[in-house]
Amino acid sequence: MTSRETIARELTKARERTLRLVAFDDAELGRQYSPLMSPLLWDLAHIGQQEELWLLRDGDPRRPGMLAPDVERLYDAFVNSRASRVDLPLLPPSDARAYCGTVREKVLDTLDALPDDDPGFNFALVISHENQHDETMLQALNLRAGPPLLDSGAALPAGRPGVAGTSVLVPGGEFVLGVDAVTEPHSLDNERPAHVVDVPAFRIGRVPVTNAEWREFVDDGGYDERRWWSDRGWAHRTEADLSAPQFWNLSVDLVGTRTRFGHVEQIPPDEPVQHVTYFEAEAYAAWAGARLPTEVEWEKACAWDPALGARRRYPWGSSEPTAALANLGGDARRPAPVGAYPAGASAYGAEQMLGDVWEWTSSPLRPWPGFTPMIYDRYTQPFFDGDYQVLRGGSWAVAAGILRPSFRNWDHPVRRQIFAGVRLAWDT
Ligand SMILES: [Fe+2]
Repeated sequence: MTSRETIARELTKARERTLRLVAFDDAELGRQYSPLMSPLLWDLAHIGQQEELWLLRDGDPRRPGMLAPDVERLYDAFVNSRASRVDLPLLPPSDARAYCGTVREKVLDTLDALPDDDPGFNFALVISHENQHDETMLQALNLRAGPPLLDSGAALPAGRPGVAGTSVLVPGGEFVLGVDAVTEPHSLDNERPAHVVDVPAFRIGRVPVTNAEWREFVDDGGYDERRWWSDRGWAHRTEADLSAPQFWNLSVDLVGTRTRFGHVEQIPPDEPVQHVTYFEAEAYAAWAGARLPTEVEWEKACAWDPALGARRRYPWGSSEPTAALANLGGDARRPAPVGAYPAGASAYGAEQMLGDVWEWTSSPLRPWPGFTPMIYDRYTQPFFDGDYQVLRGGSWAVAAGILRPSFRNWDHPVRRQIFAGVRLAWDT
């Protein structure tokens, strides 16, 4: 059972990270770096508003809250599109910080009263929510033009030569897809229920596709060759004039470099490629004689232990993630080179399944059979029938405490400001 101390620690860790991501002057916080992203100031008060709603008002917006209803409405993500948020009369930074602080004090009082046998699902939901917004704030800061506001990131372990481009075999057979409230009490609605699925044999990349491999695709004219692209992919590639991953610099004087959080640097060849759309991922896979994994294949390669006939809690086993097992938590501000985490390999030998880059899968977002919405019933359900592809595994920006092999993320296939990359798969 999760202890109150663990919940308090995760709440505090998330808040410390949030506050580091808004430690800028008032004018900066109100800026919109891209119509795809909110001003940082919106995320800040929205984090507090959601925390108040789920933990102090039982998820019922009709219960009176600390904000006036017309102010609270500004922070409703379904009412206000990201592009529109810069024009809203948002709470000033000092008020937003004070509001979040007051909510948090009351939440910690509530936590003290949590019974010992209560897993604290709503607390976990709020911790996950805040950390997910921290990742979107990092996406926003990465889109900011001008000199860096953030450092270029903490040190990472070295990669291993010879692993890029290699694959591992996942033999065919049944496995348990998804989790339930007993094994993973903090899992979200879309990860449940656990159910048995039969998966034909396949191969999957030992590690994600690297920048050096992607460079070969670019140099081979992959972006200009119609045959590698799906119809929708080609239409988007043409309309958006795609010719390389986002943030790779294309001007002659900067060729071979990328811009990351305002830092211009050489593109590291052994690092997993980031900032590609689903359509680019599909085209790359076709060029490479491969395909993208389905999310079911991805989860089996990540979590199933064929010797035990059971799921592992993490790819490497049951121990909590550490800096020796995966690149998580956001401080690195980039993926680790491939081969950096041999101790983090799954039972099948796939590495870097958690952390580094979100991995596009060929699966559109659909409910598992028996899906039941959680208290935050608009978290997943409204997105089931939309144009969303599932991404798996989390990026370097995801907090270790919220990630599981069953965690599902989704986005439109044209998005690439997210920290998304590619892992290939093959039929056997
Ligand atoms: Fe949110």
